[in-house]
Amino acid sequence: MTQTAIYPGSFDPVTNGHLDIITRGATLCDHLIIAVARHSGKSPMFSIDERVALLEAEIAAMGKTDTISVTSFEGLLIDFARTSGANAILRGLRAVTDFEYEFQMTGMNRRMDPTIETIFLMASERNQFIASSMVKEIANLKGDISGFVPKSVMKAMADKSS
Ligand code: PNS
Repeated sequence: MTQTAIYPGSFDPVTNGHLDIITRGATLCDHLIIAVARHSGKSPMFSIDERVALLEAEIAAMGKTDTISVTSFEGLLIDFARTSGANAILRGLRAVTDFEYEFQMTGMNRRMDPTIETIFLMASERNQFIASSMVKEIANLKGDISGFVPKSVMKAMADKSS
């Protein structure tokens, strides 16, 4: 059976932490679908098309377009996972503070569809503390974000603020 996993998120913007989870997660399945949420209750810096394009460029740079695809979704994640034929949802865990939210989301999603497992990967040591929201704040305050996001994202963020 083909194993398809969905890696959902806001990706506003994609960080080195996300790319680490994508690289490692892709080794666990045949096909990884990166799913950018259209409405995640936040007012995003990047439009949905911009977020998808930034992710697509990174996947192309990795040379992984055959096994990793990028798309956006609207509505419930579990419905998108089901219609995509996914067996699993992939999430990254950073600090303990992520745990409660992830625990709750996993439980709700499992109630809605017990056939789709959520799999967690612990962030690598280097990426433990990277969060898109903080990257945006640091960039706003003219700090150095080169250790947190790929070059393409640095450029896109600089273009936004100019
Ligand atoms: O990167 P994020 O912001 O932590 O991702 C959160 C996301 C997009 C995975 C979550 O908000 C989500 O699944 N949204 C889709 C709507 C949904 O299914 N909500 C119910 C979750 S139990």
